[in-house]
Amino acid sequence: MPKLVIIYGTGAHNTERMAQAIEEGARAEGVETVLKNVNVANKNDLNEADAIAIGSPNYNHAMMPTVKKFLNDISDIDLSGKVGLAFGSYGWSFEATDEINNKLKSYGSEMIEDLCIKRMPGDEELEICRRFGSLLACKIKNKEAICAA
Ligand SMILES: Cc1cc2nc3c(=O)[nH]c(=O)nc-3n(C[C@H](O)[C@H](O)[C@H](O)COP(=O)(O)O)c2cc1C
Repeated sequence: MPKLVIIYGTGAHNTERMAQAIEEGARAEGVETVLKNVNVANKNDLNEADAIAIGSPNYNHAMMPTVKKFLNDISDIDLSGKVGLAFGSYGWSFEATDEINNKLKSYGSEMIEDLCIKRMPGDEELEICRRFGSLLACKIKNKEAICAA
């Protein structure tokens, strides 16, 4: 079964809510998912992943140090052929998702558009997150299909 791995950091649970909604959207499409806070994740969690979503809130114009460390720890993993998503909650700027996107891209991942939600996601924003989960699932279920965003 195609597999999506979602790893996130969060300070006040906003990015965590996003991660949970991404997982819901992907599961509804019937793909296997792994959802982990970066504090309990390690690079083995990426084994056999077809898509990888990495999330961090934006703190002090950067991603969380724990997420940065995780991304550095996986630098020896070839992500070519895998679909990638950078996501996170922010207040006013986008450095965290920009940095995650650039890192995953440099490891070979095929990135979809970043998912950035301002502060706490409400019902509408959570639905957007679910749609991104469905989109990732569509892309790994049928690589030749054109998946609607
Ligand atoms: C100490 C601190 C620094 C922050 N720095 C930034 C920043 O540089 N850029 C930004 O867009 N938002 C910034 N924010 C806002 C957070 O990104 C925002 O509150 C986000 O929803 C937190 O997500 P989380 O609940 O997943 O931790 C900052 C918030 C705090 C408390």
